[in-house]
Amino acid sequence: MRAMVMQAFGAPETAVLRELPMPIPGPGEVLVRTRAAGVNYPDLLVVEGKYQHKPPLPFTPGKELAGEVAALGEGVTALAVGDRVMVQVEYGAFAEAVIARPEQCFRLPDAMPYADAAAMGLVYQTAWFALIDRARLQAGETVLVNGATGGVGLAAIQLVKALGGAALAGVTTMAKADAARKAGADQVIDLSGDDLRNSLRDQVYAVTEGRGVDVCIDPLGGDPFDAAMRALAWRGRMVVVGFAAGRIPVIKANYLLVKNIEVSGLQWSDYRDRTPGRMAEAQAAIFRLYGEGKLSANVTERFPLDRMAEALAVIRDRKVVGKVVLEV
Ligand SMILES: NC(=O)c1ccc[n+]([C@@H]2O[C@H](COP(=O)([O-])OP(=O)(O)OC[C@H]3O[C@@H](n4cnc5c(N)ncnc54)[C@H](OP(=O)(O)O)[C@@H]3O)[C@@H](O)[C@H]2O)c1
Repeated sequence: MRAMVMQAFGAPETAVLRELPMPIPGPGEVLVRTRAAGVNYPDLLVVEGKYQHKPPLPFTPGKELAGEVAALGEGVTALAVGDRVMVQVEYGAFAEAVIARPEQCFRLPDAMPYADAAAMGLVYQTAWFALIDRARLQAGETVLVNGATGGVGLAAIQLVKALGGAALAGVTTMAKADAARKAGADQVIDLSGDDLRNSLRDQVYAVTEGRGVDVCIDPLGGDPFDAAMRALAWRGRMVVVGFAAGRIPVIKANYLLVKNIEVSGLQWSDYRDRTPGRMAEAQAAIFRLYGEGKLSANVTERFPLDRMAEALAVIRDRKVVGKVVLEV
């Protein structure tokens, strides 16, 4: 089978396309033939050697794919050959086939295209657990989604709306703001201005009758995070999802006390590994909402497998709006 291989950590352009032996599923495993793979910001971090989990070299990057079950290892009864599934792995998805355990596989709705399925795992699961588990979102609450034009951001906006909340889209490149509106954002908050510390709160207060937001989902860190902390309502919840803006923020504990607010962190892969049952429920709900037309996959860029470097470069160079997939 063909697979993209990193021989050393480095720029995506250093990956090579290799012919590797077709893997054979062991007991309790399945072989899945890849039809589409989702490309994510964390893939860039893994490839560059900046991610918290570093695969042993050489390795094939890629954390999610959709395709068909092609072979079953001994003792597997939960899946059958030919089942259409979306698969979550730690790495290895940018290849023509992967080995996975059944609990890493999520059955697709009948009519769902593979490219959509491959784009509706990691970012939707991240947004789901951030909103539901960490932020305990209630219907009627208002959520500021920073990084609203990215994969996690667009997923979070759609989920907030599907769950009965109001979504404020925090946008860093205003030329991309229409994507956030299309995803259902009630208001756009401009994060590109000079005096962000004040301008973010002013904008939020203007659209929340001076109350602030109940929840902020923050994949950015840096100045947008600092400014968003000032725009939380009484008992507001900030969820730390990432640091795309580059700086890891520092929080003073007295600020949490004085404002009756809380900050929590969200690490998606821990939910995948520690609570597979909850992940299966979350993914089933995400696919159900997709089937009801309340969520869409936001796929905007498609590349063949051997152009993985270009796919990662559009994320690295901030050219993407929505999701990138590799079609295999
Ligand atoms: N904790 C977890 O489990 C988890 C899971 C998934 C992702 N993440 C993290 O979440 C972040 C976003 O992921 P994603 O999939 O949404 O990525 P993405 O699709 O590439 O989107 C990135 C978003 O961040 C913004 N951005 C990028 N560079 C920026 C900068 N220097 N300053 C301000 N904004 C910037 C982009 O805005 P523009 O439109 O202005 O370019 C875009 O809205 C990443 O840091 C990723 O590692 C964490």
